Amino acid sequence: ADINLQEIHDTLVSIAFEAGRMIMAANPSDISMGSKMNSADIVTETDQAVEKMVSSRLTSSYPTYAFVGEETNIPGVTKITSAPTFIIDPIDGTTNFVHGFPNACISLGFVVDRIPSVGVVYNPFQDLLFTGIRGSGSYMQRNASLPDSSEYKGKKIRLSPKGKLGNLSTALVATEWGSERKGDNFEIRARVFRQLCATNEDGEGGSMVHSLRSLGSAALNLCACAAGQVDIYWEGGCYAWDVAAGWCILTEAGGIMASGNPGDWEPALDGRVYLAVRGAEGREGQKEIVEELWKVI
Ligand code: IPD
Repeated sequence: ADINLQEIHDTLVSIAFEAGRMIMAANPSDISMGSKMNSADIVTETDQAVEKMVSSRLTSSYPTYAFVGEETNIPGVTKITSAPTFIIDPIDGTTNFVHGFPNACISLGFVVDRIPSVGVVYNPFQDLLFTGIRGSGSYMQRNASLPDSSEYKGKKIRLSPKGKLGNLSTALVATEWGSERKGDNFEIRARVFRQLCATNEDGEGGSMVHSLRSLGSAALNLCACAAGQVDIYWEGGCYAWDVAAGWCILTEAGGIMASGNPGDWEPALDGRVYLAVRGAEGREGQKEIVEELWKVI
């Protein structure tokens, strides 16, 4: 049967606003927490309650589609197949949420044949919505949930070839510490932070990049890249629910997404290295910058 991506988008936007109300209703001083792999890998009751709401709304609207959520994922058991699949993170940026740092979102992705096909990322703290539909472009909307914007009309985001990133030394780069505190992903992150802040080798004291930013949410980093606010987002060890929605928004805006495994462009479940680059010229046009960055990494 035909899949109506627009209808799925509209459903996801409505779910995102409901999630936003739940997130904003939670009192940060009253948030009960648990941790997953270590004390920096946090889950709250709100993450779980939002995921429950999202999964029950989606499974009743789309009973034949698969569902993968961060909080109900069973490592080693949950698989992403070629079936139409919702891949969601109820709160991306849980650490920010717990600290009352106003940068967290709900990330709702829909993939078909493992290709990110709809992405909805909503930051309720800023009432900021990013959406993308495969083949129809990406949008950014401020004051997204206000009554007069109930009929969806965002601003189309399209990275212009003119603004394309040409040089690592002028790039604003988003990257994250993530929640792993040891192991390969941790070591590689530490190296990237240090290397990117160092001077480059031009002998004139030039810097490797303009600066680094950590928004605390993989999905919001991808959207910032899609909107041209940062030039590159790199992170080692993201999961499918961190990237599925932002991936669609980024690529529909003309950016590119590369995984650390050459040739593997699918949203994977096993914490791969992901690199997002702004630019309207496709993978070929960005080859140089990608190669330059891989050298550093
Ligand atoms: C995390 C955030 C963080 C990123 C981690 C993610 P969560 O998601 O996106 O910025 O560095 O890799 O796991 O735990 O807040 O949903």
